[in-house]
Amino acid sequence: MTVRLGICGASGRMGKTIIEVCHETRGVKVTAAIEQKGSPMIGKDAGEQAGLGKLGVAIVDDISSVANKFDVLIDFTVASSAPDNVRKCRAAGKNMVIGTTGLSEAQKKIIAGASKEVAIVFAPNMSIGVNLCFKLLETAAKVIGNEADIEIIEAHHREKKDAPSGTSLRMGEVIANTLGRNLKKCAIYGREGVTGARDKKTIGFETIRAGDIVGEHTVMFASAGERVELSHKATSRKTFASGAVRAAQWIAKKKSGLFDMQDVLSLK
Ligand SMILES: NC(=O)c1ccc[n+]([C@@H]2O[C@H](COP(=O)([O-])OP(=O)(O)OC[C@H]3O[C@@H](n4cnc5c(N)ncnc54)[C@H](OP(=O)(O)O)[C@@H]3O)[C@@H](O)[C@H]2O)c1
Repeated sequence: MTVRLGICGASGRMGKTIIEVCHETRGVKVTAAIEQKGSPMIGKDAGEQAGLGKLGVAIVDDISSVANKFDVLIDFTVASSAPDNVRKCRAAGKNMVIGTTGLSEAQKKIIAGASKEVAIVFAPNMSIGVNLCFKLLETAAKVIGNEADIEIIEAHHREKKDAPSGTSLRMGEVIANTLGRNLKKCAIYGREGVTGARDKKTIGFETIRAGDIVGEHTVMFASAGERVELSHKATSRKTFASGAVRAAQWIAKKKSGLFDMQDVLSLK
């Protein structure tokens, strides 16, 4: 069976890469492409703007107008747009894969609410390597988390709109949950001035924004005499795009529920 995909944010960095990966993947077809109202991309061919030649899919500015053309919507847009896209898919009874990051708790609740009626994969990082790292972090936190100072360092390209990255926050959550801490209470975002000595129970976040870095994350567990570091470096957006397409194939037949990449990859 071919899964028909709608790509929301079709002209963005991730949108174009997802269209490219779909072109190379059996069992999926891009049948709808959406950008926001007023975008100069409206009316253009989704394949041509992704550098693949004509696909016969014109970019439109409203999900609802093309909802009958796709089975699953893949959303890589911005946090402020994602909730409205979720509402439209819920109304049309369409499953979703959401890779957009930087959502507030209130925006995440809209996704959780919609997942009672449609099936949604929502994950801040769709790379297989990063999801393996989440699993390895659980083990590291169990073994050395309480003795070590934990710092999460992430680097992304200069255009990234949110900070720290959704992936680093998820890494922090995995560690905090394993150690019985509340990330909201123990996270420290950057340091400046006279900060005093480090509180052992905190988890520090450092953000780098520079050039065209695709995405790099290092988690440091440092204690007296030794340091363990777990690093992931993405060198191509294709790793996220392939994960998103795999998630779309996985979610296509599900009725409802909220899932993440750990579910898709059977890592739970
Ligand atoms: N989960 C993962 O594995 C993963 C991996 C990489 C990135 N991300 C996240 O994915 C998101 C997109 O990243 P990106 O680098 O592709 O950003 P980008 O290049 O800025 O692309 C986002 C695209 O979405 C469009 N857009 C905004 N609102 C829209 C709406 N209401 N309907 C349709 N399209 C809309 C934007 O249009 P305008 O340019 O006109 O605003 C833009 O073309 C970010 O949140 C990023 O952090 C997640």
